[in-house]
Amino acid sequence: MQRFEILDKDAMGRIGRLETPHGRIETPALMPVINPNIEFIPAKDMRKFGAEILITNAYIIYRTPELREKAIKKGVHGVLEVDMPVMTDSGSYQLMVYGDVEISNEEILKFQIDIGSDIIVPLDVPTPPDADYGTALSDLEVTLQREREALKLERGDRLLALPIQGSTHMDLRRRCAEEVVKMGGDVYPIGGIVPLMDTYRFYDLVKIILEVKSVLPSYAPVHLFGAGHPMVFALAVALGCDLFDSAAYALYAKDDRYLTPHGTKKLEELQYFPCSCPICLEYTPGELRRMDNDDKQRLIAEHNLWVSFEEIRRIKQAIKEDNLFELVECRIRSHPNLMFAWRQIREYGWLLEQYDPSMKHSFLYAGVESCYRPAVLRHHERVLNVELPDKDEIIISADEGVLADFYLRPAFGVVPIEMLESYPAGHAEIPPSELLEDEALEIAVQGLKRFLDHHSDRRFVIVASGKWLKFLKDLPENAVIKHDKP
Ligand code: GUN
Ligand code: ZN
Repeated sequence: MQRFEILDKDAMGRIGRLETPHGRIETPALMPVINPNIEFIPAKDMRKFGAEILITNAYIIYRTPELREKAIKKGVHGVLEVDMPVMTDSGSYQLMVYGDVEISNEEILKFQIDIGSDIIVPLDVPTPPDADYGTALSDLEVTLQREREALKLERGDRLLALPIQGSTHMDLRRRCAEEVVKMGGDVYPIGGIVPLMDTYRFYDLVKIILEVKSVLPSYAPVHLFGAGHPMVFALAVALGCDLFDSAAYALYAKDDRYLTPHGTKKLEELQYFPCSCPICLEYTPGELRRMDNDDKQRLIAEHNLWVSFEEIRRIKQAIKEDNLFELVECRIRSHPNLMFAWRQIREYGWLLEQYDPSMKHSFLYAGVESCYRPAVLRHHERVLNVELPDKDEIIISADEGVLADFYLRPAFGVVPIEMLESYPAGHAEIPPSELLEDEALEIAVQGLKRFLDHHSDRRFVIVASGKWLKFLKDLPENAVIKHDKP
């Protein structure tokens, strides 16, 4: 049965609907992690922040006698005192941190089924980044074996998550993705990435997501396991991730760390709160600093939840408005590692092309990365099929004041007059070429050269001046340059 429905799309991101035994949730969704042992922010309060689904740890419940008894009697929903969807993790995280867990895969799966979890997870092996190939491969074989075992269990209408591991070995990530799709899970978490998040290794993170997405079908809901910092949400959604879990809201709060969509702040360094959530409106950073630890940490955690869900809503609205690229290109400027991580989309143009809608309203240039959007690549292709006027010499002008057959535009390259008013080239807000990054002109000239080569039997005059001339070099023989302003 198809449990995931896609309602709207932008970039590789989507707004979707996931059906669970406790009702449907809208994605992208953030699942606050509830530690069943520690009453920090009660599960039943999570709705007010925007949570539609929670995640808790079945292994912790299993290992704590009172919780286990209660869970067997009243289910996991009874333990958390909620009736909203609840995903349970298996203890794999403890496996990664402590190297061992005292339970078998089958036992923890059956326990999750018995306590009425909405989304169950096998005991996958989260191989850390940079593991040697042999270790990553043998871990992966264990993970896949456990996932096959999970499929054989009678689980009623519960959803089964099949995590994708493989460390930083891209062929293993792809292989794992192929295998789990063949098995047919309901949710596909990308696992083993917490150490990448913690060390800001966003380049590897983006690479893993892109490699996995290049194998997974579009209708597969993807969970980025353990990525709870709002600074990566927009980027991860734009790459096609649908579910997130946040332990970060609580873990960071315990350390006096305050989340923002741009990064983390230490409470001690804040003079002002850059946020208008109920907590930041009511208190000043100084007031929080003077509180006792419990109150302070709870209030920071509440702020952390407010901003995290606010960012999710902002991303959803960006998908509705078709400007998720613009949001991501803004967010990646919060950290250089995010910026060069995102730039890898250049090598995955074919993949983005399959997802990104071709009709939108506007194109706001936010930096060189805007040139890597599918809209630009598609324009370069499309213009090759435009019919040329029946003239000896065809004029392509970089200056809009000159009457020409085609115009030369940053990023887009050759733009026929009839496309000057339409999306994308005609609706693109781009700074003047003189003020623009070189790359935006280089990409335009690459497009121009392809266009000229494509029409090698025709003659062209390129009217240009200023900064364009720096890049209009080594043109094919069918083109001459005419200096616009001497
Ligand atoms: N929590 C954070 N990372 C992981 C992972 O890779 N697998 C599971 N099961 N839980 C996680
Ligand atoms: Zn706040």
